[in-house]
Amino acid sequence: MKSIVLFASGSGSNVENIVQFFQNKTNVTIACVLTNKRDAKVLDRCNRLNINALYFNRNAFSKTDAVLKVLESFNPDLIVLAGFLWKIPKNLIQAFPKKIINIHPALLPKYGGKGMYGDYVHAAIKENKETETGITIHYVNENYDEGAIIQQEKVEILSNDTVPEIAEKVHNLEYEHFPRVIEKLLLEQ
Ligand code: GRF
Repeated sequence: MKSIVLFASGSGSNVENIVQFFQNKTNVTIACVLTNKRDAKVLDRCNRLNINALYFNRNAFSKTDAVLKVLESFNPDLIVLAGFLWKIPKNLIQAFPKKIINIHPALLPKYGGKGMYGDYVHAAIKENKETETGITIHYVNENYDEGAIIQQEKVEILSNDTVPEIAEKVHNLEYEHFPRVIEKLLLEQ
């Protein structure tokens, strides 16, 4: 049995999609969802889906080993960031080499880095009149959006696409590919 821990701090639609994908698979379990936002919508989803969720603050995450200890207690095969914005501290990177992955809603290395998240990414893409965007699933290192790329998927942008329409196209790619990439990485271990 493989186990995953997810980090999320927003709506959590990817979390829900991943939970549903693995629901009927007996070889993968979602051990816990960790969040740094007490009022994140992802917590409502976890309640509804009967998934464990835990909240932590900045101190527990970056200044002590509290979150590290929690993660170690779950002994996860993969740690998945699904809409989580804080930079992952060194102690976690070192404890889980090649086991932490993130999804970014653009084709890295373009449109990455601090402050490039959510609609900021899609608005910048529209502003620059890009003709395509996509998703990047990558390993996490100590710099934002710079870890080795695992998989990218592209989608075309039409000149009259609005920011919400671009966001929807990107979300659809995320829903289609993220769970499958997670499954593939687990099977390869
Ligand atoms: C996704 O677009 C993901 O690429 C990014 O954060 C967003 C999370 O959306 N890292 P949701 O909370 O899963 O709806």
